[in-house]
Amino acid sequence: MVKFRFGRLWVIIGLICCLLAGCSENSRGNQILRVATEPAFPPFEFQGKGGELVGFSIDLMRAIADGSNFQVEFQSLPFDGIIPALQAKTIDAAISSMTITEERSKTVTFSRPYFKAGLAIAIRADHQNITGFDSLQNKKIAVQIGTTGAEKAKSLTGAQIRSFDSAPLALQELQNGNVDAVINDAPVTLYAINTGNLQGIKVIEQLLTEEFYGIATAKNSPYLSLINQGLTKILENGKYQQIYEKWFKSAPPTLPETLPFINKNTARLNSLSIFWQSLPTLLKGALGTLQLAFISGLFGLTIGSLIGIIRLSHIKSLRFLSRAYIDFWRGTPLLVQIFMIYFGLPAISQELGFTFTLNRLLAGVIALSLNSAAYIAEIVRGGIQSIEIGQSEAAKSLGLNPLQTMTYVIFPQAFRRMIPPLGNEFISLLKDTSLVAVIGFEELFRKGQLIVAENYRAFEVYAAVAIIYLCLTLISSQLFSRLEIWMNPIGKKDAKGKI
Ligand code: ARG
Repeated sequence: MVKFRFGRLWVIIGLICCLLAGCSENSRGNQILRVATEPAFPPFEFQGKGGELVGFSIDLMRAIADGSNFQVEFQSLPFDGIIPALQAKTIDAAISSMTITEERSKTVTFSRPYFKAGLAIAIRADHQNITGFDSLQNKKIAVQIGTTGAEKAKSLTGAQIRSFDSAPLALQELQNGNVDAVINDAPVTLYAINTGNLQGIKVIEQLLTEEFYGIATAKNSPYLSLINQGLTKILENGKYQQIYEKWFKSAPPTLPETLPFINKNTARLNSLSIFWQSLPTLLKGALGTLQLAFISGLFGLTIGSLIGIIRLSHIKSLRFLSRAYIDFWRGTPLLVQIFMIYFGLPAISQELGFTFTLNRLLAGVIALSLNSAAYIAEIVRGGIQSIEIGQSEAAKSLGLNPLQTMTYVIFPQAFRRMIPPLGNEFISLLKDTSLVAVIGFEELFRKGQLIVAENYRAFEVYAAVAIIYLCLTLISSQLFSRLEIWMNPIGKKDAKGKI
């Protein structure tokens, strides 16, 4: 019996390992390449109506695979995670409209160029005073994190740059009126305008740069020659032209065979120096994290206490409302709430005919406070209910009214019992602030992402980020323990030993 069970266990473990490892050969014996893409970049790579991957790059990659006799397994990854993933070899190649740049060529190797593109500035159609790159100085600009557009924006003096995880989010930011311009790949912005998905936006005539896209592989990858062979084959046999015409309704331009810096090797800095180098920027981010956590914690505590008390009210409708509040904010993901508040509210208000914008700190604070208030309300309710009924009876017999009873007798005692769960809540809140990165607020995690987007040293930078979060949470938990001791009216010394 026992043997049989173990046998079954091994089969299950084997199956799981196989699933996790992924198989690198298919039934026809062809090699399978794991190819990453960030599918929010139409018309190059995006999701079709049924959720399937479509686009110029997707068709191209499949044609290359056919030409070189291998199979492709697409994996979607955030754009700024692609180069670190190539380095870590969790993927074999990436086709994601990635511009071949000198900087990137130090870390990965590109195939021969497969597309000619360039950056363009998008502005609101009613904006008259932005006419070229130089007029963007001191303006607010949205970009996609880790892209050449983000790099270009950095060269502007005085510009406030907001980085988003995807190009559509940056364009949405422009449409919502939160920024003056977006710097993005021209074909993508034009496609969004031409398909009617982006309204009230225009592109300034001249292109800022000329760029070529390449398929990226890890340094010394065995797959590079396979990919290059396939690409050369389809460029010669007319398949490339066919795919190009399908997506761009025009004949393709001629592409260079290579670029001067496509194969570059440079010395890598050691991990410790990367760690130290990124520390000052990360600490600045940590200040943003603390700012978000403290302000939201205070608001959350105030709103949460009120709702927790209302939840114990004698009036049924009030009880119902507070219950509904808790269910809603606790029952939907914080990430969705942040998106709704920052992108959703301004978008709907525009459709209703008025302009309403929120700054990122404010949007983050609103989402975090309203969310944590729901949890705090339950902690407060539990704390108050845990105080024995005798206490309020005694207060009543001393002649205190209900408000006085709550303020002087029940709440202070309940608060002491609430400290440990409130400490938990604060620590969760502190870590949840990292979600505000999605709206481009530069707190600790976002600062880390921005550094990785530049130096591609994911391990060292995220390790530093994790250590800083850990320090912040350890300090907070210490402070809460102190508070608990300090609030204990009897036996402070005894309590010290126990906490
Ligand atoms: N061409 C630009 C770059 O390489 C943007 C690419 C963004 N690609 C994407 N799938 N989001 O930086």
